[in-house]
Amino acid sequence: MKFFLDTADVDEIREGVAMGMVDGVTTNPTLVARTGRPFKEAIAEICKIVAGPVSAEAVSEDAEGMIAEARELAAIAPNVVIKIPMTIEGLKAVTACAELGIQTNVTLVFQPLQGLMAAKAGARFVSPFVGRLDDISIDGMEMVADLKTMLRNYGFETEVIVASIRHPIHINQAALIGADIATIPLKVLKALARHPLTDAGIERFLEDYQKIPKS
Ligand code: E4P
Repeated sequence: MKFFLDTADVDEIREGVAMGMVDGVTTNPTLVARTGRPFKEAIAEICKIVAGPVSAEAVSEDAEGMIAEARELAAIAPNVVIKIPMTIEGLKAVTACAELGIQTNVTLVFQPLQGLMAAKAGARFVSPFVGRLDDISIDGMEMVADLKTMLRNYGFETEVIVASIRHPIHINQAALIGADIATIPLKVLKALARHPLTDAGIERFLEDYQKIPKS
């Protein structure tokens, strides 16, 4: 299973890379706005830190505008992937990008058939948002399981990025389903590594180490 970091903060990305856990990065306008940096500057720096796919989101609402943005953003670095929202115009842009050889990640997917359409249009990635569905009492992970089944049934190569992750259980469930990728906030990534019994074990070993005669 691949782990992407869901952030535009380069300090967070460097920390994740040092942990050996970053196969790629996803950003969105909200995450870039939080950094206070110009959009293209932030994406360019992230692409220097991470060799894997880095998603940068197009913000036009029409296909023509999205394609123009895709061309510009793809010129930043070879690992830029254009995030395109799941709309009719978005599907047109994904189709055009596939013809141009520009990789896309279809975002804001909330039901499996949207993901199937993204795959048909030629998206490299599709991003179902689990947390935002859970927030309105709909099981986000059920959508991921159905989407994975649909893509497997027809042999699509589109990879599923489980997005809008809120806690470790989401990643546990995604891994059991066989989702290709989880895009994870750094805070949640760190929480995956922790266990209170690990901490208690370290504490006891350190205490006992002090009891060992020095010579
Ligand atoms: C990633 O591609 C998404 O933009 C992100 O996971 C959305 O997460 P949120 O629902 O916590 O904003």
